[in-house]
Amino acid sequence: MIVPTNELFKIAYGKFAIGAYNINNLEQCMGLFRGNLDSQAPFIIQISKGARSYTHKTMLEGLIRSAEQVFPEAIFAVHLDHGDEETCYDCIDSGFYSSVMIDASHEDFDTNIAVTRRVVEAAHPKNISVEAELGQLGGVEEHVSVSEADAKLTDPAQAREFVERSGCDSLACAIGTSHGAFKFSGTQGLHFDVLQEIQKRLPEFPLVMHGSSSVPQEEVERINQAGGNLQGAKGVDADQFKQAARTGVVKVNIDTDGRLVWTRVHREYFVEHPENFDLRPPGKVFMSEYAKFIAGKNEKLGSAGTLPNVRKQLA
Ligand code: G3H
Ligand code: 13P
Ligand code: ZN
Repeated sequence: MIVPTNELFKIAYGKFAIGAYNINNLEQCMGLFRGNLDSQAPFIIQISKGARSYTHKTMLEGLIRSAEQVFPEAIFAVHLDHGDEETCYDCIDSGFYSSVMIDASHEDFDTNIAVTRRVVEAAHPKNISVEAELGQLGGVEEHVSVSEADAKLTDPAQAREFVERSGCDSLACAIGTSHGAFKFSGTQGLHFDVLQEIQKRLPEFPLVMHGSSSVPQEEVERINQAGGNLQGAKGVDADQFKQAARTGVVKVNIDTDGRLVWTRVHREYFVEHPENFDLRPPGKVFMSEYAKFIAGKNEKLGSAGTLPNVRKQLA
């Protein structure tokens, strides 16, 4: 069942964080639903602009609507990840999305507010909530590439004004993470001090953590042993998710880790079976491994096991 994103946030706030997982294809979609049901967790499916154009924007919508029928017990929201203004309007008009993210974080403060406000005004009449971003993460996003030096942590002093003037429903904060598999090249870590200051100024307001893949070292080693070359890949310590949830984070974005599972499974499969050229055997392994991965993440987020209670609260 597709539910409003802000309803999930109200239930989760201060108790657990909801995994927001990006998908691009059928195998990820199947593994995602299975993993969340196996671990009895609500979840958010994220669709990026790149995912929408990978095949056709309505293909993922079709997959998700089918998955809803195949897995009727699932409770989830559908979210546009890192939207620009035009893509936000397209998603709002489609009637399929529970929420959109307008990412104008690369603009100056006032322009970020103005763009976010326009999207909010289009979204709210349709009961669609809006995530905005203040501050800038390092790493590569679809339409922006930000070097570590240029990444800017969210300024807590600006956060409240931003929320009040833009009318956004949740706020993605830059607290030291970055997108992709190469985070924390120095001695960086999560800036809980910044998060605490933001929560103080915005009590009960849903905060979002992007760039939250853990880049498990075992996964990286297996990829490298099977012919990959991911030297120095590093991610966020997933044991910090629960502390983040207590500090106002309700949504944790994870994409890269899922890609690593895909890469490990396919590299290992074809090294072990050089004679094979059928896509289904590795696809089956991937769906099962991806489901396990999702269930494990939900344990770290504290969302595992909450589904019966979430269902009760939504009724
Ligand atoms: O933040 C970006 C997400 O990982 C989505 O990646 O734009 O390559 O689909 P993508
Ligand atoms: P990762 O690259 O750490 O998985 O972050 C994903 C993300 O923030 C999607 O918006
Ligand atoms: Zn992101």
